[in-house]
Amino acid sequence: MKDLVFATSNKGKLVELQGLVGEGVKIASLADYPQLGEIPETADTFEGNSELKARAVAMATGRWALADDSGLVVDALSGRPGVYSARYAPTDAERIAKLLAELGGVDDVKRTARFVCSLCLCSPTGEVVFTRGTCEGRIGHAPRGAHGFGYDPIFELPDGHTLAELTHDQKSGLSHRGHAFRLMVPELKARLGA
Ligand code: IMP
Repeated sequence: MKDLVFATSNKGKLVELQGLVGEGVKIASLADYPQLGEIPETADTFEGNSELKARAVAMATGRWALADDSGLVVDALSGRPGVYSARYAPTDAERIAKLLAELGGVDDVKRTARFVCSLCLCSPTGEVVFTRGTCEGRIGHAPRGAHGFGYDPIFELPDGHTLAELTHDQKSGLSHRGHAFRLMVPELKARLGA
């Protein structure tokens, strides 16, 4: 059995990836490496940030490392909040309120947006492999739905439902992260021999 360190402290992401990879690869997380601390996300692209984290963890642990970076790209805001999605405002409710305010008066057809997730796998010797998943939709006018997190209540899919109106499994089937994970699984299996 080969080991991989997923550079996340988010239990939900860990469980989702382990479910897709199966039992052949044992996945550790940052919870298993408290000495590593927070890795600063200083790049201005999703790929740049996922690579920063994967490389830092691979070099510090001497193991294969995987890292993700994701966010919401809004066309009418020239791609903002983008890589700054988590830092756009202090809380989820404030981030949603700020985004709706910035889009005040913008027509439905111009409210197109997508979630993006970059995954970077880094070998112990520093070679990297990327996958990217996206989820297309548009920003609604008011929050709807009780599931999910972050911007989910205002992110409308082409069928009109928000991501927060889907179950966890429904969201995973079509989300940016789900797509990026599913593209990464064969890369992982090929390299870790699982
Ligand atoms: P992270 O890189 O996965 O931590 O995501 C950065 C930020 O993007 C989060 O704090 C959320 O604000 C936003 N975000 C990423 N993925 C999602 C999602 O699936 N739903 C809602 N918001 C998301």
